[in-house]
Amino acid sequence: MSAVDTTYPARRPTDGMLALAKDIEANHKRDAAEQSTVPAHVYTDPEYWEREKAAIYDCLPQILCPSALLPDAGMALPHDATGRPLLITRDAQGLVHVFLNVCRHRGTRLVEGVEVCAAKKLVCPYHAWTYSVDGRLLALPRPDTFPDLDKADNGLIELPSIETGGLIWFCPKENPDFSYAEKLGEDFDALGMGEQHFYRRKLHKVKGNWKLIMDAFLESYHVTRLHAQTIGPFFKDGVTSGDMIGPHSRAAVGRLEEMESVDLTDMAQLRRVVTFAYQLLPGALIIPSPDYINVMVMMPQAHDLTLVEDFMLIPELPKTEKARDHWERSWALLDGGVFASEDFRAAELGQQGLSTGAVPELTLGTMEGGIRRYHETVEEALRAAN
Ligand code: FES
Ligand SMILES: [Fe+2]
Repeated sequence: MSAVDTTYPARRPTDGMLALAKDIEANHKRDAAEQSTVPAHVYTDPEYWEREKAAIYDCLPQILCPSALLPDAGMALPHDATGRPLLITRDAQGLVHVFLNVCRHRGTRLVEGVEVCAAKKLVCPYHAWTYSVDGRLLALPRPDTFPDLDKADNGLIELPSIETGGLIWFCPKENPDFSYAEKLGEDFDALGMGEQHFYRRKLHKVKGNWKLIMDAFLESYHVTRLHAQTIGPFFKDGVTSGDMIGPHSRAAVGRLEEMESVDLTDMAQLRRVVTFAYQLLPGALIIPSPDYINVMVMMPQAHDLTLVEDFMLIPELPKTEKARDHWERSWALLDGGVFASEDFRAAELGQQGLSTGAVPELTLGTMEGGIRRYHETVEEALRAAN
């Protein structure tokens, strides 16, 4: 039993989510028909990573964080892990912006640190040029000494962004196609992601290729084995189903015996018997547990090094010690236990083994077809950029 009230407003799953649940009920496993392979060099070759970076991470829309991290107008958050100095803000109208965290005067980093701050105005530490959280240059000291300066031309440099389904996305390139982000947003709205509260976040440094981390979330073959001591038993006898939303994967694991007694069109009931998971291109994972949601964002630094930021969202902030204990245990179980000590560790062990060259080609069983599919999507994105 949960120590807190986790009742959600009545919500209906999207048609796509329902179709997966119906598949599970009909016991239509969507396993691959055949074994397949993935070449090892896609994880170990630094040049391959450079191509992925240019074609994928420097081009495609990607998630930065959940909306719940910046709940109020006037908030700002420096964000560096994508390799760019970004500044995420929420303006007075509640609109999200993603800027380069760089003063237009002489290029100084505008906001220091890595924490969310309540700012309204952003004052450069060097000569105190002052910006609004919507990016406008509001004022500068001794404006008479800049006779040719037009303030309107010297606002912060903004990158394309969108807030949908309780997540903040950005794109490093102009004119991005956010249509799949919006489509996914329908599922995340059904999960009530936008109404969640931010509970905890942690930036993990994983010594493994970003796709090795994705792989661990693209098959259920390991779940009752690698996770035998943690969440494995919960997934015993689970039936898996999945589909694609553009380049993004959506998976569902259901416990068949429990599904009969449940109204699948009620989101809260459905979540108790079917666990959904989303594996997004380039590298993000959305993992809703029955009463909370983890969002994981992968930010590769090199072919063998990935920063992963894990966020935990909960339906209401804890009001009692008992409630806090409950969420603290969930956070420790998933972030520290399942993800860090098990899935990320498996990715690091994979990198260590593959870098020896001993296994030039990885073998995938029919339960691991999701990995093959994901790698094809990555290859497609590489081809599209050429
Ligand atoms: S560099 Fe920012 S005010 Fe001068
Ligand atoms: Fe796992």
